[in-house]
Amino acid sequence: EFNMEIAALCALTLLLGALVVLVALAVGRRKEEIREELEQAAEFTGKSSKKPKQEKQRSRKDKASQHTFSHLLLASSLKSHSGNVTCIDFSSNGKYLASCADDRTVRIWSTKDFLEREHKCLRANVDLDHATLVRFSPDSRAFITWLANGDTIRIFKMIKKEDGTMTFKAAPEDFPQKHKAPIINIGIAETGKFIMSMTNSYASISPCGRFVASCGFTPDVKVWEVCFGKGGEFKEVARAFDLKGHSAGVHAFAFSNDSHRMVTVSKDGTWKLWNTNVEYKKQQDPYLLKTVPCASSDGSRAALSPDGRVVAISDGCNVAMYNATTGQLEEELNGIHSEEINDLRFDINGRFLVCSGDKAIRVFHNAPGYRAAIRDMQDMLKKAQNEAMKQRLQQQIAEAQIVINTANLKKKAAL
Ligand SMILES: *[C@@H]1O[C@H](CO)[C@@H](O)[C@H](O)[C@H]1NC(C)=O
Ligand SMILES: *[C@@H]1O[C@H](CO)[C@@H](O)[C@H](O)[C@H]1NC(C)=O
Ligand SMILES: *[C@@H]1O[C@H](CO)[C@@H](O)[C@H](O)[C@H]1NC(C)=O
Repeated sequence: EFNMEIAALCALTLLLGALVVLVALAVGRRKEEIREELEQAAEFTGKSSKKPKQEKQRSRKDKASQHTFSHLLLASSLKSHSGNVTCIDFSSNGKYLASCADDRTVRIWSTKDFLEREHKCLRANVDLDHATLVRFSPDSRAFITWLANGDTIRIFKMIKKEDGTMTFKAAPEDFPQKHKAPIINIGIAETGKFIMSMTNSYASISPCGRFVASCGFTPDVKVWEVCFGKGGEFKEVARAFDLKGHSAGVHAFAFSNDSHRMVTVSKDGTWKLWNTNVEYKKQQDPYLLKTVPCASSDGSRAALSPDGRVVAISDGCNVAMYNATTGQLEEELNGIHSEEINDLRFDINGRFLVCSGDKAIRVFHNAPGYRAAIRDMQDMLKKAQNEAMKQRLQQQIAEAQIVINTANLKKKAAL
């Protein structure tokens, strides 16, 4: 029933080896069928798994060896993995966070639980291997993994059972092994039909699935557009634009939700914010909006809130959050993990900043984002004419204020 069929297979080696393989696959199901199921959207019920006792015992043991960390902005620590978490990803519907670790599992967390005391997760076993990378499909109904030993991609379908719980089913066959180069990222392009794996020192697909970018030892980031024909068939990967301006190699970069902004972090000790909402087909170049000094190192990661207003940069086990407009340092989160941070992301609503490094996943309130939202809503409230609008704004301000106040209360208690 999971009738995956490899429709076409074309190896594309682009300049600098940024993109290595581009695989087209057709999932053997009709579109309407998929849409129908989508509408019955898998509500996360996360009933506890078959062996709750064993799990509990193990997780207690793991906890003892875990790095302890607390911070005013820490919303939750997600602990279930018994190995180091290597990659995290949010689903585009905002409901799930996926994580993979060297404990041979992928965990699917409900974002709804982030503020709860308990954090339920569902487990998918990665048989005979472990996943180093995980990415949701654009429809949030499947995820793909990169297999550490298999050097290939395995797809898991997320299936809703009759009792409302969810289960995972691996595709009967892994992708054919295509290349031996170390893979540093995987992603699924716009139509969901194309899966890419990438080498180079850092590479990523934009959240909208339209762009692919990579960086390496040179001071620039190269961005391509993935082009599809009218029927959704893959056409080409066309050079779009470069981000040029750093004076040393770029460690990492990130896109805003709509790809209108990008942030880069470099060995030159700065991060840069770029306006990438340009007509590159008319040779218009992206323009630099901001350059801000920051701590960085080889493994540094960058994250940009979906609205492009908050920048987060990791350096070793630390993260700094900045106002993207003014460059002002807003928050410092130090010693988050016992290992170097390997993934850093905002959730799709910009409420949380999440990172991984050791066995735990840390979820932080995006306080700078909340503060900016409160300021904006207060301005709107002054101008608001109708009563319903006013009430809605007042409620939203109150909700955002609760998050800020909780952090402030914790601060007071700590003094
Ligand atoms: C996690 O990573 C650290 C450093 O890379 C390593 O020392 C440790 O053994 C790893 N833990 C597991 C369970 O693999
Ligand atoms: C940006 O994110 C929102 C969810 O917060 C989503 O509804 C919207 O479609 C996204 N826009 C793009 C261009 O991806
Ligand atoms: C950044 O600073 C400007 C000017 O002070 C402010 O209006 C905006 O809300 C701030 N944004 C964030 C995300 O803190």
